[in-house]
Amino acid sequence: MNLIAPSLLAADFSNLRDEMDWFNRSEADWLHLDVMDGVFVPNISFGFPVLEHVARMTDKPLDVHLMIVQPEKWVSHVRDLGAAVMNVHQEACVHLHRTVQQIHEAGMKAAVTLNPATPVETLTDIIGDVDVVMLMTVNPGFGAQKFIPHSLDKVRRLRRLIDESGSKALIEVDGGVNRQTIVPLHEAGVDVFVAGSALFGKPDPVAEVLALKQMINE
Ligand code: DX5
Ligand code: ZN
Repeated sequence: MNLIAPSLLAADFSNLRDEMDWFNRSEADWLHLDVMDGVFVPNISFGFPVLEHVARMTDKPLDVHLMIVQPEKWVSHVRDLGAAVMNVHQEACVHLHRTVQQIHEAGMKAAVTLNPATPVETLTDIIGDVDVVMLMTVNPGFGAQKFIPHSLDKVRRLRRLIDESGSKALIEVDGGVNRQTIVPLHEAGVDVFVAGSALFGKPDPVAEVLALKQMINE
């Protein structure tokens, strides 16, 4: 699967209506929404009052990436947004299996994210239960950072882990996705590409989404 998920973190928040307008007109597949708490990551982004407005501005699936401690406390809030995917960090979940179950019981797809230093092998015993594994290809907390090259090897190891286990999980990457990195990431086995600074702020983001898609179309 080749899905593009623009990351709203890179949007011009004084002009959200226009940003959502190009997003809706584009071939983009999911809307990626980054929630930060200033504890799990050294930054704070936006919370549920903002997300409720954003959710009303699109019919496309919402991918809510929670960079917060105790994400299990917010399952019903994310569900009430109408989100398709609830994305929690492995490092933030002491009882990851239970949290994945709670996300499923709420009717959402469960995505588990790994920080750059967390090995993919930590998911061996839960790989059959998750719908998406997202690899951070930068350190979480900020947009427009440099892609970590070691991530390519990590994607290949995750691809192997998923294929050998018979899991149907999609591989998503977040951070530093652009015209340079998208092809090697695709070749390594990525299904869902989050992109912030590569799209928002560009003269023609709709054309930019199309360009990225064309680069990875087999
Ligand atoms: C970073 C966020 C990303 C961010 C990606 O912590 O999770 O979603 O917006 O930004 P780019 O694509 O600019 O690296
Ligand atoms: Zn993100």
